[in-house]
Amino acid sequence: PGRLVVEDWDALTFRVNRVAYRSEEVFQAERDRIWARTWLYLGHETEVATPNDFKTRTLGGRPLIFCRDADGDIQAWLNSCPHRGTILCREREGSTKLFQCFYHAWTFRNSGDVAAIPGKDAYEAAGEGFLDSMRLRAVPRLESHEGFVFVSFDPDVPPLLEYLGDAADYMTMISQQHEAGMEVLPGTQMYGVRGNWKLGVENAMDGYHFSPTHNTFVGYLRETGFAVTDDDQYAYNLGNGHSLLVLTGHGGRISMLWEPRFGEDEKVRTEAHRAEMDRRLGPERARYVADESHILFVWPNLLLFDLEGLSIRQLEPVAADRTDVRAWQLAPRGEDADTRALRMKTMVSFVGPGGLATPDDIEAYEAVQRGIEATAADTRPGMDYSDMSRGMVDEVKGVQGRSIDEGAMRGFWRHWVDALGVEDGLAVSGDRPERFLEGRNVR
Ligand code: FES
Ligand code: FE
Repeated sequence: PGRLVVEDWDALTFRVNRVAYRSEEVFQAERDRIWARTWLYLGHETEVATPNDFKTRTLGGRPLIFCRDADGDIQAWLNSCPHRGTILCREREGSTKLFQCFYHAWTFRNSGDVAAIPGKDAYEAAGEGFLDSMRLRAVPRLESHEGFVFVSFDPDVPPLLEYLGDAADYMTMISQQHEAGMEVLPGTQMYGVRGNWKLGVENAMDGYHFSPTHNTFVGYLRETGFAVTDDDQYAYNLGNGHSLLVLTGHGGRISMLWEPRFGEDEKVRTEAHRAEMDRRLGPERARYVADESHILFVWPNLLLFDLEGLSIRQLEPVAADRTDVRAWQLAPRGEDADTRALRMKTMVSFVGPGGLATPDDIEAYEAVQRGIEATAADTRPGMDYSDMSRGMVDEVKGVQGRSIDEGAMRGFWRHWVDALGVEDGLAVSGDRPERFLEGRNVR
């Protein structure tokens, strides 16, 4: 700390072209070059805990069936009938051994095989291998890490662990925090945001907005005797587009402490859990898990919040200015009913779409999207860029530190430019600037 003396402000500049948030052409390029090529978070193994469980969800614009087949293997099928392309499974979730298409009643086992085709005899005249060619189409790659299941539409994507890099161990710590393991609770929160998906990522890595944007929540914390400071937040660029925001200044997980219903029993339980983690994980990992709050971003669609318990958030871009968000709660297996109920209330009242924090973030997210339209017709140099130039001088080892800094966001944007391959020529329509990042510090 101490006063920052900067002699050459120009050297600090890092600006993002607003075209990146609003252009349909950029959105299509992202679909082709990011969402079709990288690993995408699909869901958690415990969401399909028993054979024949299934969920349907859309990733990178492609409808999928995420299921555990009758033999207990996890599968990800394209949710598109091999006959004429109809959406095969029209339910959000359930349990079934067979998926039957409503259009012509072709029926498939959850292992992908054809189970029945009306009028099949006529088809069989078409020759050998016909039924095989009509199997459900699998997503080419599926791997999981600590129960988090990822898929890729690119058969040549590198192995998942290599791709997760430094993010992998943070996911491991999330899974290790209860000896019995973690499970996703039933129910999904789903909401649409009128904003570009990248604003959701930036907001999650932006500790700077906390006090002003969430001032109702901050006022509530202060009234309940809770110290609030922005100073103890750190944003880390983990590489590969992944990043981590750490909040250390709250003396533990935020909401389990501010929650007034969190009584003496829970405190005793928390302390016992802390001691158990110290023994099992060692003091350093126990400190990470128990004393800090985090938001982990795994490029490009997964956010893991351990603020108030553990929430999983998945981003699904639907247009340049539209994003669908799905959220789930991760909880220790075998937790008693009272603790579970308290956890759910805490989660819903804080990061739920009607909670104390998330509506503020959505408002910020949508207000940026509306605001950046202000410069849409302005082609003068420098007019169409949003600025990320705070705290530039100590961008070392990929770590920015303190909430005012933007190292994680910059890591995200550098990765975005590389993933999009902008250098090898993404044309932006008309006379719009072709540079996505501007400033002496963008590399
Ligand atoms: Fe599915 Fe014809 S499109 S059975
Ligand atoms: Fe926020």
